[in-house]
Amino acid sequence: MLLLPFSVAVTCLLSVVPEAFAAPVPSINVVPGKSISLSRRSVSSRGTEGQAASLRARKLAVEQKLTNQGADSTFFGSIAVGTPPVSFDVILDTGSSDLWLASQGNGTSSIPAGINMFKPSSSSSFKSSGTPFQITYDSGEAAGTLGQDTVQMAGFEVMSQTFAVVDEVSSDVLSAPVSGLMGMAYQQIASSGATPFWESLAESNGTLTEQLFSFQLTRYNNDSRAQELEPGGTFTLGAMNSSLFTGSVDFQDIPSGQIGYWIQEIAAITSQGKSVTLESGSASYAAIDTGTTLIGGPADVVSEIYAQIPGSQAGTGDMEGYYTYPCDTQVELTFKFGSSSNAWPVSPADFQFQPLQNDPTTCVGAVFELDNSGTTAPAWIVGDTFLKNVYSVFRYNPPSVGFATLSSTALAMNGAVAAAPSPTIGSAPASVSATDVPNTDRTSSGALRTDRIPNFVLLSAVAAVIVGALVC
Ligand SMILES: *[C@@H]1O[C@H](CO)[C@@H](O)[C@H](O)[C@H]1NC(C)=O
Ligand SMILES: *[C@@H]1O[C@H](CO)[C@@H](O)[C@H](O)[C@H]1NC(C)=O
Ligand SMILES: *[C@@H]1O[C@H](CO)[C@@H](O)[C@H](O)[C@H]1NC(C)=O
Ligand SMILES: *[C@@H]1O[C@H](CO)[C@@H](O)[C@H](O)[C@H]1NC(C)=O
Repeated sequence: MLLLPFSVAVTCLLSVVPEAFAAPVPSINVVPGKSISLSRRSVSSRGTEGQAASLRARKLAVEQKLTNQGADSTFFGSIAVGTPPVSFDVILDTGSSDLWLASQGNGTSSIPAGINMFKPSSSSSFKSSGTPFQITYDSGEAAGTLGQDTVQMAGFEVMSQTFAVVDEVSSDVLSAPVSGLMGMAYQQIASSGATPFWESLAESNGTLTEQLFSFQLTRYNNDSRAQELEPGGTFTLGAMNSSLFTGSVDFQDIPSGQIGYWIQEIAAITSQGKSVTLESGSASYAAIDTGTTLIGGPADVVSEIYAQIPGSQAGTGDMEGYYTYPCDTQVELTFKFGSSSNAWPVSPADFQFQPLQNDPTTCVGAVFELDNSGTTAPAWIVGDTFLKNVYSVFRYNPPSVGFATLSSTALAMNGAVAAAPSPTIGSAPASVSATDVPNTDRTSSGALRTDRIPNFVLLSAVAAVIVGALVC
């Protein structure tokens, strides 16, 4: 879907930021019987008190296979929730910090048909707080109620993890089999105020081998054989998998005072070999975001990127904010971050987002205009269009993002004919009958239709934290 500009109404919704509820007894069981005290987090800028989750490391595996949905639109993994544990597919989103799962609610649910829902009454360890939850992304919203339960992922378990049981989502945020989203940025931007799953693990000394997590994402968008679900690559929690990259990982710090999103300052961009004019400082801050399909940036810079591509044109109408260009042009785009000397290329295959339905020789480019002015979200979102080209590492301490060159092992997973992975933890969720799930009028949320672009899913999951919320 096209990005919706923030209206006053949307801004005001964000003033309903719930207070985090009381933290459970903080203890981690690294090995059975051995308990270590967890210090409480300091009070965040929101005035909500951080939750020090109880967690237990089960070093069964650190690696998790991902699924690539809709030819690189979304990358998801599986988590298991509750007692007994039930598996759910969730988008792993480094552009936001809240975990939520779809649930039936009270019959007014706007969850699309066919999605496996979390059933609070089926988990003996679930505790509802009754606190309302609401989150606004660049391209949609979700709302529900906060609760706590045991959550497992990639061999680790956090007990009393706060998450939202969501019964309202705007259209196109979820597409079966995905049941929700796991935010993997820092607690500072959590709408719930809760400590994200990964951060509870990173904070507890000795639990993760290294205080970081890593992604390798696959490419299927230039493969005409691509199915709706394909192998998505690898997520590794607490380690880097050296068989998936070559050389060293180039870590660049998150700019000072910017902990929240995984921010990198874009230091240079080239388009077709020519440098594009960039301001330094916050105008060039980018959220490195696995939960967004494409790359968005300020209109003037985006216009300069396309100015290097002969025959490119700014879109109008439904295509506003996007550009088209002749599909036979191989567009070479590179990015430098922080003080690095590495210029990371985006492959022409990723730049070429998709052909126009009514003119297959004209393609939509993967870099679009983003207007995040009036919000505290960074000016740029660097999503999967870029991240498919590198091994990416998100490091807690020192706070930084690292990129490395993909190995031949990783590259061999692009476009490979293979079955999408299936959830490996917990029991399979019961299948949901159609009568369980009211189908929704997908246009009723006011989202723009993008019928002219086939299979268009821009899941922009950068949480929009609006500066202006105080005026509401
Ligand atoms: C982890 O170690 C650091 C540095 O030694 C210390 O400051 C911090 O309090 C420790 N955290 C926990 C949860 O024990
Ligand atoms: C690293 O990735 C390779 C290739 O996917 C996989 O076979 C291996 O098990 C992974 N290693 C670890 C420690 O996860
Ligand atoms: C569902 O209904 C119950 C009882 O009326 C109410 O307490 C609860 O808040 C409702 N939940 C939602 C999500 O509306
Ligand atoms: C897709 O793009 C990659 C990177 O440019 C290329 O190596 C691969 O051959 C392409 N695949 C197809 C099916 O065209």
